[in-house]
Amino acid sequence: MQQTNSKKGGTTRWSNRFAYILAATGAAVGLGNIWKFPYITGENGGGAFVLVYLICILLIGIPVMMAEVAIGKYGRRTPGKSTSEVAKASGKPAFWGFVGWMGVISGYLILSFYVVITGWGLAYIFKAGAGDFGNGDPAAVQALFKGLTSNGWALLGWTSLVVIGTVLVIGKGVKAGLERAVSTLMPILFLLLLVLAGYAASEGDFAAALHFMFDPDFSKLTINGVVVALGHSFFTLSLASGIMIMYGAYLPEGVSIAKSSLWIAFFDTLVALIAGMAIYPIVFAHHLAPGAGPGLIFQTLPIAFGQMPGGRLVGVLFFIMLVFAAFTSALALIESSVAWLVEKRGFSRWGAAITAGLGIWLLSLGTIASVAELPIAQFAGTDFFSVLDYLTANILLPIGGLAIAVFTGWVANKSLIADMIDAPAVFKNWYPVIKFLAPVAILLVFLQLVGIINL
Ligand code: PHE
Repeated sequence: MQQTNSKKGGTTRWSNRFAYILAATGAAVGLGNIWKFPYITGENGGGAFVLVYLICILLIGIPVMMAEVAIGKYGRRTPGKSTSEVAKASGKPAFWGFVGWMGVISGYLILSFYVVITGWGLAYIFKAGAGDFGNGDPAAVQALFKGLTSNGWALLGWTSLVVIGTVLVIGKGVKAGLERAVSTLMPILFLLLLVLAGYAASEGDFAAALHFMFDPDFSKLTINGVVVALGHSFFTLSLASGIMIMYGAYLPEGVSIAKSSLWIAFFDTLVALIAGMAIYPIVFAHHLAPGAGPGLIFQTLPIAFGQMPGGRLVGVLFFIMLVFAAFTSALALIESSVAWLVEKRGFSRWGAAITAGLGIWLLSLGTIASVAELPIAQFAGTDFFSVLDYLTANILLPIGGLAIAVFTGWVANKSLIADMIDAPAVFKNWYPVIKFLAPVAILLVFLQLVGIINL
């Protein structure tokens, strides 16, 4: 019973440990690191928020990632199926598959706004190339952003291109092409971020940025900030969205789940921190608001691109990298739904890709209408996009993570999971974390949020 389910399950495997780490890092590193992390850090006051975020990654994120990969490795199927396989092998009802299913649904909802923001990045490749950032005048750069977001048709066009691109790649099911592209582009992305951070350090207010990011001022931290940090640790590591279960299903035998998870989380966190160090010095040097919201990077980096020598080229490259980082995450986000349509509903791969893509395109209209401030998407002082973003990242992902932790620690057979983790010393320390610490921590944050307790 404790054997890997490989006879029944699929036979697809990543070619080696490196390919897996790269693919999972490609899924993890995305808009969350470069677009979202800087603006939510800005909205939540900086250092104390960053500290809570790092603690969440370490104590909850990495352990939950290991649990997801272990479930996938046992089941070797799509997330819902893999979870129910583990449940059945543990003598529990198959309906526990809903834990995997919840993730697939959250991932689909996330993708519906992810494609819109990726569209902004796509538009900015062309704006950078056309020299639209001028000489980097902050007011002009802000007006440029407003010009894009207030134009619903432009948003629709860019979003549609992203959706079509996603469908075209996923429809082919080309893994080798994607894997190769990721392995070339991820190092370049990393290098470019370093260059930008270097530029920001020499030209911007680097000291203010470091102070803002790493000097915790707990008076600025609210319970909502803690929830956002927890939710973002799931979002940025691509947890509770089916993806790590899916990628774990392709895990070659003999790859250490613990070590590879540590590497993935390390790279992901590094990219987020460097992105912050590239953006905040510019924000503070130009007296911009760090809490400017989702438009933050689109209103700060172009100032640097407009002012630096060769900034037009660097700008084009930067937004290409941003789009690529986002694109590899978008592909990961749609994969489970497509795989499910093929397996369960008998769709052809193309039919599944087009159907899933059409659904995403329709759902994305809600975000587009919100960004363009159309009355239809505004309600009760907020809008569809803000609600979707908050609901997925801060409610659905943490609850999904809680479900995975509870499932792994309390429902699944202990020795089955130990076999998957395949490192007794690690397992001994990890198991109490996934069984007690992670669920209790997530629960406490939620009880605090809804005001049932007051720590
Ligand atoms: N981790 C991705 C990012 O940081 C987003 C994502 C979330 C991808 C959930 C897959 C699942 O941009």
